[in-house]
Amino acid sequence: MVSRRSGLHPVDDIPEARRQSPLRPATTNPSPRRWVWFGVPVLGIGAVLVWWFSPRATPPLGMPEPTPAEQPQALLGHFPYPEARAEDLQAVTADGRVKLHREAAQAFLAMQSAARAEGVILVPLSGFRSYQEQQSLFYDVKAERGQQVAERAQVSAPPGYSEHHTGYALDIGDGQQPGTHIELSFEQTAAFRWLQKRAAQFHFELSFPPNNAQGISYEPWHWRFVGSPTSLELFYRARQGS
Ligand code: DAL
Ligand code: ZN
Repeated sequence: MVSRRSGLHPVDDIPEARRQSPLRPATTNPSPRRWVWFGVPVLGIGAVLVWWFSPRATPPLGMPEPTPAEQPQALLGHFPYPEARAEDLQAVTADGRVKLHREAAQAFLAMQSAARAEGVILVPLSGFRSYQEQQSLFYDVKAERGQQVAERAQVSAPPGYSEHHTGYALDIGDGQQPGTHIELSFEQTAAFRWLQKRAAQFHFELSFPPNNAQGISYEPWHWRFVGSPTSLELFYRARQGS
């Protein structure tokens, strides 16, 4: 029926509450209920997107760790590390030449005893290194081999950027196969197989596995200790840039 009052809006006769279609298009005058139905989900999705793309300290579970290229403090694929204090170091060889931070030293000695009980000889080849020692390892060997810095950095950290500075990382050899020391062939030894199975029980992990995010050559001999809050923070904060 056509409204006699306005004569312009033929559906005005039907009370608004009973209408099946809105009198006016929602785009020109949306009702408060439509804002609830459409606005709340849109705001919710917006909040999730803002959270997802906002910077955060730790990546959500399942996301790959940032590469050194995404970390401005990284140098040639390596992260900066502080040098351990002399008073925190403890020898892990009889001649005292290989030293580790005491937390790592105690864990390594326990791991070495466990391996020996199973007939496997773990030899600590290199532990804590000062900036000075790393400097000669990096530059002297680079000069001897006539390497570019990028090539040298594939296998050796620049001074100030080695895990060895912390006293929490060491190179391990197999006492029964010295020919494999600091060689890829270490991967074929009983010591490496034992470490793969048991090192995590002593809180050691391989620093440079094959195809690591840092882009460093695979080093089956180089292990780091992450079994204390300090060591864990040192290695994992380095990757977050804080
Ligand atoms: N070989 C490892 C990367 C270092 O020099 O610390
Ligand atoms: Zn090493």
